[in-house]
Amino acid sequence: MVYVRVPATSANMGPGFDSLGIALGMYNTLKISEIDSGIVVYNNSKEYIPIGEKNLVYRAICRVFDEVGYEKKGIKIIQNSDIPVTRGLGSSSACIIGGMLAANVFSGRKLSYSQILNLAAEFEGHPDNVTPALFGGFCVAATENGKTVYTSNKLDPKLKAAIMVPDFFLSTKASRGALPDDVPLADASYNISRASLLTSALINGKYDDLKPCVSDKLHQDIRKENVPHFDEIMEKSYEMGAKATYLSGSGPTIVSLISENYDEFEKNMSEFLETLDSKFSIKICSIDNVGAILKECAD
Ligand code: HSE
Repeated sequence: MVYVRVPATSANMGPGFDSLGIALGMYNTLKISEIDSGIVVYNNSKEYIPIGEKNLVYRAICRVFDEVGYEKKGIKIIQNSDIPVTRGLGSSSACIIGGMLAANVFSGRKLSYSQILNLAAEFEGHPDNVTPALFGGFCVAATENGKTVYTSNKLDPKLKAAIMVPDFFLSTKASRGALPDDVPLADASYNISRASLLTSALINGKYDDLKPCVSDKLHQDIRKENVPHFDEIMEKSYEMGAKATYLSGSGPTIVSLISENYDEFEKNMSEFLETLDSKFSIKICSIDNVGAILKECAD
């Protein structure tokens, strides 16, 4: 049996569309075994996941088996996940990375972690969630000719993420579909400067400079239309001491980066969120600097 623990992720981080992401201390824990035939999925998580061939962990396993030419037997998956699904917290990437890492063990460890990353980025469509899910920390990633080039940077444990999760879903596919195919040069330039600044400020611990670094002109203004009270929540978060607040991935979760007074921030924001006519929950997460963990165990 293979035990895999994969972190949730928060991608884009404002201006880093399809390229920046952090791993969060919130996990999908999977126990995966080869069995004689068929597919068996036990879901011990709160949220619905498909239990047949459409199961994402299973599809990721099959993708690796196809890649390395391994003849598939049956698969048993036991999933315990704390990651909210379809909320912009990388739940799909955690399933893809978990399935691919396990499949690589079953098929004789033919793929390196870089090759798994390439396969996962292609499977997911972009590298900004799968890279931190695999390597942890704050990741910068770009895919060039099918290869994902990345850096994974450990962040100071002082920096934490306040995750504000609404009680409705937003599919990445629909959320991407709302974006324009072309953007003005001035907007592209605006984002390049902010994404570069954000990278440098995070790595150098310049948290007081983060607020202008998470401004974006490529996706957030369009996507926030689907997130009630986005502007109010952002404004309140800064009043309460957030260093940076942005839409996580394609939304609808909103993330604030904070570096002190964590309990106070959670309490104050929670009280504020309760006054809204949409339901949001708040959780403070550490940044995961480790990435996916894999262990082979006896069944
Ligand atoms: N970069 C992706 C997007 C993240 O914004 O659509 C969602 O998986």
